[in-house]
Order: sequence, then structure tokens, then C-alpha cells
Amino acid sequence: MAKSKKRFTADISTSKKNIFITKSADETRELGRLFASFLKKGDIVFLKGDLGSGKTTFTQGVVKAFGNKGYARSSSFALVNEYETGNDGVKLFHMDLYRLEPSDIWSIGIEEYVYGENISLIEWADRLTGDAKNDNTWSVDIKAGGETREIIIKKRV
Ligand SMILES: Nc1ncnc2c1ncn2[C@@H]1O[C@H](COP(=O)(O)OP(=O)(O)O)[C@@H](O)[C@H]1O
Ligand SMILES: [Mg+2]
Repeated sequence: MAKSKKRFTADISTSKKNIFITKSADETRELGRLFASFLKKGDIVFLKGDLGSGKTTFTQGVVKAFGNKGYARSSSFALVNEYETGNDGVKLFHMDLYRLEPSDIWSIGIEEYVYGENISLIEWADRLTGDAKNDNTWSVDIKAGGETREIIIKKRV
């Protein structure tokens, strides 16, 4: 068991389940930063885990990796946060569907994000019903216990 639990290596394989342990919010941000280098245009990241598990914290690291100075805000206020990636025309979207009813999800025009040539990180993506997945879908699943987080990253193809 222990040997599969890596800390801070950029060794994120797209063909297997990658398990990481972080011991602080900063470590989770750092993992997000390393993970960002695997993201390509059109990718969608489904962030899973309970409220307070670290989905927004992980996203902060991803946002930072793309050269954005601002942090990803907890998107309870704005439904969608938008960032530049530095790659012309490719935007990074961070959205939180927590407050949305499944029936309202499509009314915010989510297809534009999910099917566009952008990169999207989605909290509470289990509210996304229907075929919002594409071939470039990742899942980042966070389990919390105290200050420790077990973070499982998988590419679902
Ligand atoms: N190892 C850790 N990884 C991420 N967050 C942690 C960790 N330890 C403590 N925390 C705290 O847990 C909270 C996570 O909040 P947040 O990222 O907003 O969660 P979510 O978006 O999943 O609701 C923050 O207050 C953060 O400081
Ligand atoms: Mg959040």
C-alpha cells in the first residue's frame, strides 16, 4: 500500500490510478501545480470530494501553474471563474456546480466550457448528468482526514 502513495512527484501516469498524500493545503496546491503540466486543450477535470476536502485548494495550484497571479476563489459566489492559460485562445475555467440543481446545469450554457477548446475544472461534477464527458476527462478524487488528504488522479479514456 504505502509504496503507491507518492508525494510531490510529477510522475502522473495517464494510464493508471495515481494516489498522492498531502499534509497541508500548500502541498495540495503544489500537487495541483504539478498536475497542470499534464493538461491539454479540451481537457475536463472532475473534482470530487466532500465540502472542505480541498477541491478549490487543488485548483489554486492549477491556476497558478498557468501563470495567473490571482487565486481561484471558492466559486460559491461566481459560478464560473475564468483564467488565461498563456496559450493563445485557450482559457481555463473553474466552476462549482454545488448550488445548482441537476436540471439547471445545462441552462448556464455549460456545453461551451465542456466541449470547447478550453480546459475546465469542475467541482461537484456529479451534478452533471448526461454526456458531459469527452475522451479527455480526468477525475481528481479527494478524501480528507484531519490535515491529510488522499488524492487520487485518474485519466478516464
Ligand atoms: N492537505 C490539505 N489539502 C487541502 N486543504 C487542506 C489540507 N489540510 C487542510 N486543508 C484545509 O481544508 C480546506 C479545503 O477547502 P476547499 O479547498 O475550499 O475545499 P472544497 O473546495 O473541496 O470545498 C481549506 O481550509 C484548507 O486550508
Ligand atoms: Mg470548493
